[in-house]
Amino acid sequence: QADKLTPSIGITLDRFIKQKQDEFPFATGELSQLLRDIALAGKIIHWEVNRAGLANITGSYGNYNVQGEEQQKLDVVANVRFIRALRNGGEVCGIISEEEDSFIDTGNHQGKYVVAIDPLDGSSNIDVNVSIGTIFSIYRRVSPVGSPPIIEDFLQPGNRQVAAGYIVYGSSTMLVYTTGKGVNGFTYEQSIGEFILSHPSIKVPQEGKIYSCNEGNLLDFSAGVQHFIEQCREQRLSARYIGSLVADFHRNLLKGGIFLYPSTQKAPNGKLRLLFECNPMAFLMEQAGGMATDGKRRILDIEPKEIHQRTPFFVGPQNLMERLNQCFQQE
Ligand code: AHG
Ligand code: MN
Ligand code: MN
Ligand code: MN
Repeated sequence: QADKLTPSIGITLDRFIKQKQDEFPFATGELSQLLRDIALAGKIIHWEVNRAGLANITGSYGNYNVQGEEQQKLDVVANVRFIRALRNGGEVCGIISEEEDSFIDTGNHQGKYVVAIDPLDGSSNIDVNVSIGTIFSIYRRVSPVGSPPIIEDFLQPGNRQVAAGYIVYGSSTMLVYTTGKGVNGFTYEQSIGEFILSHPSIKVPQEGKIYSCNEGNLLDFSAGVQHFIEQCREQRLSARYIGSLVADFHRNLLKGGIFLYPSTQKAPNGKLRLLFECNPMAFLMEQAGGMATDGKRRILDIEPKEIHQRTPFFVGPQNLMERLNQCFQQE
């Protein structure tokens, strides 16, 4: 009787991480701690985002980042919050961020890991109460433990990621991540301050029924991409585009959809950043049974040349990615 009145709220992120760690007898627990640090920063940003209108932290910060984008106040707030959480955690020796010109040495030279973050994704949606997110990607450093981080620690291809994920601040806040053994999603339960496993072993539906791109740029897209979009329309696929990669990706992952950000006149190399956005999303999509390319190559095999490098980005379930590929071949 009492059990019926008090159904279990499910497994918390902390316990889930602990259980996974127990499956690796030689694991030191540092990666687990690092994931917990990221979850903590996520809770803090959740709090910031939800009071943004009241705390006077909407709107522009009055500065441009290295990518030439106008920073929003929340871009800056989220950047500071994440860097602080990672620095205090101690497992990370270096950080790169969309909002920082060059890499940050955290001073934790014993840390084995480096992290790439897009602290606040979907900046243009902050002020209008549309979903935004945080994207993270974790690598093992290549430089020796005990020394300061070097640029090569960050310029590793995506196939070297040890973990990646995102937090979406949507109608509820969720954390979705992978360590290369499938994808799991956790919903934030504010009242107890915990992420609870709500979406175990996420697999992208293979019959994708959604396409997402900024169709305002259609005339800039290559013949192949234009042809693909025409096919999507002929087949009456749903067009859905929020303009926050995290939110568009999250919907497509759960419902089955392809996301496209091709090169445009304004952004000849595409708009999205390989290290901060494309690699983590590609890792997640592959782990969920889908694919990610730049139109020619697998995203995860691209050798990065610089930390703020951009790339055209196509990510989704097999059926739509294969159809897109055929369109590229007929170009
Ligand atoms: P960010 O806010 O981190 O700079 O990223 C913005 C990105 C991404 O979230 C989204 O997919 C894309 O910009 C939307 O671009 P358009 O407005 O050109 O469609
Ligand atoms: Mn930006
Ligand atoms: Mn972004
Ligand atoms: Mn951003």
